[in-house]
Amino acid sequence: MTIALLNASGCLDALVAPGVARSLDAFVTKTVTPLPREGNPPPRFAETAHGMLNSIGLQNPGIDAFRRDHLPKLEAIGVPIWVSVGGFGAHDFAHVCALLDDRDAVSVIELNLSCPNVEEAPETAAELVQAARAATRKPLYAKLSPVARDIAETARAVAAAGADGLSLVNTIRGLTLDDETLRPQLGRGVGGYSGPALAPVALACVFACALAVDLPIVGMGGVTTGRDALDLLAAGASAVALGTILFSDPASPTRVRKELEAEATARGYGSPAEIRGIARPEAVSAVASPE
Ligand SMILES: Cc1cc2nc3c(=O)[nH]c(=O)nc-3n(C[C@H](O)[C@H](O)[C@H](O)COP(=O)(O)O)c2cc1C
Repeated sequence: MTIALLNASGCLDALVAPGVARSLDAFVTKTVTPLPREGNPPPRFAETAHGMLNSIGLQNPGIDAFRRDHLPKLEAIGVPIWVSVGGFGAHDFAHVCALLDDRDAVSVIELNLSCPNVEEAPETAAELVQAARAATRKPLYAKLSPVARDIAETARAVAAAGADGLSLVNTIRGLTLDDETLRPQLGRGVGGYSGPALAPVALACVFACALAVDLPIVGMGGVTTGRDALDLLAAGASAVALGTILFSDPASPTRVRKELEAEATARGYGSPAEIRGIARPEAVSAVASPE
């Protein structure tokens, strides 16, 4: 069995780079909301020493234009499509999910329950999942923020509300200041921090959630190599998504897949799938207390 490799939402435009999308097992769209959104003022990207800051602000054409103009073109690429859905309350999530329910091209709906660039939705994650669940029969993956007080508790809540899987993790809030002016570099001030610095954070979230719920997990956050992907699998992920790395290395899906196979083989496993969850608590406590 091979491990599915996806892109992280917002990190690949499949219509601009269909070849990259075809090198993945599924393409995840940028988050779609009920109405079109222009997003945040520029600049929207800033480099930092260990990652990237963005404040795109959920720019998207809105669900009606997405269904009419984008979905047919995405379908033509020939890769399974996951649609990321966002909004500001249960009604928004239910509305967008209902409009995707009859579209055969959509294989999974990912619920973006965590975006640092928009105001926090007032409802809890579980309420949003419940609303989406009532609106569609499609498999639902709940995408969670790594800054939850107790992410395992959120995972249990969304599982009980009807989520079929988890996508872990979204960005964390960050800020960079201009060298000269000491003013924020991003037009909106703060942004979502992604890239290598997020890898250990993502790993801890996947580890905690894999112990808490029996749901498939797409692990993401700072993956740049096959070893990063291997770590997420060992922590309990069943699939891996590539985000920020796609901007600097569009060939990373093929490279990471090869490196992952090589890492598994070098460790004596028949396939990367055999590594899933081996960072189990017994092994961890044995390492933590050698005496
Ligand atoms: C430019 C950019 C845009 C993003 N847009 C979205 C989005 O629309 N919806 C979403 O759920 N996550 C979005 N994300 C978060 C990524 O999907 C991913 O969770 C995060 O970047 C961590 O992975 P990485 O460190 O490999 O980039 C975005 C990230 C970046 C860098």
